[in-house]
Amino acid sequence: MFPVHRPRRLRKDDTIRRMVRETSLSPADFIYPLFVAEKKKGYREEISSMPGCYQESVDRAVKHAKEVHSLGIPAVLLFGIPKHKDAEGSSAWDPKGAVQQAIKGIKDAVPELYVITDVCMCEYTDHGHCGVIEGGQVLNDPTLELLSKEALSHARAGADMVAPSDMMDGRIEIIRDTLDEEGFTELPIMSYAVKYASAFFGPFREAAESTPQFGDRRSYQMDPANRREALKEVALDVEEGADIVMVKPALSYLDIISDVKNEFDLPVAAYNVSGEYSMVKAAGKMGWIDEEKVMMEILTSIKRAGADIILTYHAKEAAKLLGA
Ligand code: PBG
Ligand code: ZN
Repeated sequence: MFPVHRPRRLRKDDTIRRMVRETSLSPADFIYPLFVAEKKKGYREEISSMPGCYQESVDRAVKHAKEVHSLGIPAVLLFGIPKHKDAEGSSAWDPKGAVQQAIKGIKDAVPELYVITDVCMCEYTDHGHCGVIEGGQVLNDPTLELLSKEALSHARAGADMVAPSDMMDGRIEIIRDTLDEEGFTELPIMSYAVKYASAFFGPFREAAESTPQFGDRRSYQMDPANRREALKEVALDVEEGADIVMVKPALSYLDIISDVKNEFDLPVAAYNVSGEYSMVKAAGKMGWIDEEKVMMEILTSIKRAGADIILTYHAKEAAKLLGA
């Protein structure tokens, strides 16, 4: 009989399709980012390029975290928007900073919700770069000390995990040493190991008020054209003590997620970034795509490529559809 092989046999109805499905999503796969601003109680402002996402005060972020937890999402990632910015980004390690307060507030209100913090200088520096500037250059080694201070400050406030996103060389080692010396040997590090200099971060920079005031981030973030270099970045971070490695952005970098998954034994996270989210929202609003279906297809593809963890602004909507 022709043809012998008929793959369509296993696509006949939803029951058999469910039985042979290779990838499934769960709310437990997601981490939801929150933008915590140093603002008066009750403040909440929608980010115009990221519908459904907000800059909010500490009390509102705590409330929001409860909602995230109730949807079955295990973790949040905190970004801080400080009142005061300066050249070295000193608000980053302010024990009374928005992130530090939000950590405490969330851990008090929903202790089971895992609190991860983004560790970087760009939200705190007046020039908007991820490190110390001298002569128009972002200096590597002097930045490491600042990042360690910031990570330690988050740890002291009660963070469950820190996630350095700056792309300075050697930062995982320095942060690991600092945490260990201060007694935080059990605190894991999720490294933004493979972070590309991507235009997909555009909406985030509005959200976090972290647009570089001059130049761009190409002297520290990776060239989108490079694939082999991603494995080198991951190898270095693993050697330096990273517990989880991240690829960012996700959607245009599925090959990289797959490479990292195949090459290394530790959990792989992927960041479905702001621009990826905004494009889906915009096309959905225009009626050009079925927004929910496209969202689930994108998240499934990121997981299928090899991500164990997905950082995504879609987390709440997706968790609702998956029925927490
Ligand atoms: C900070 C940071 C950025 C993002 C996460 N951490 C922006 C950047 O590097 O410019 C991007 C997140 C997103 O676009 O959703 N370094
Ligand atoms: Zn940064």
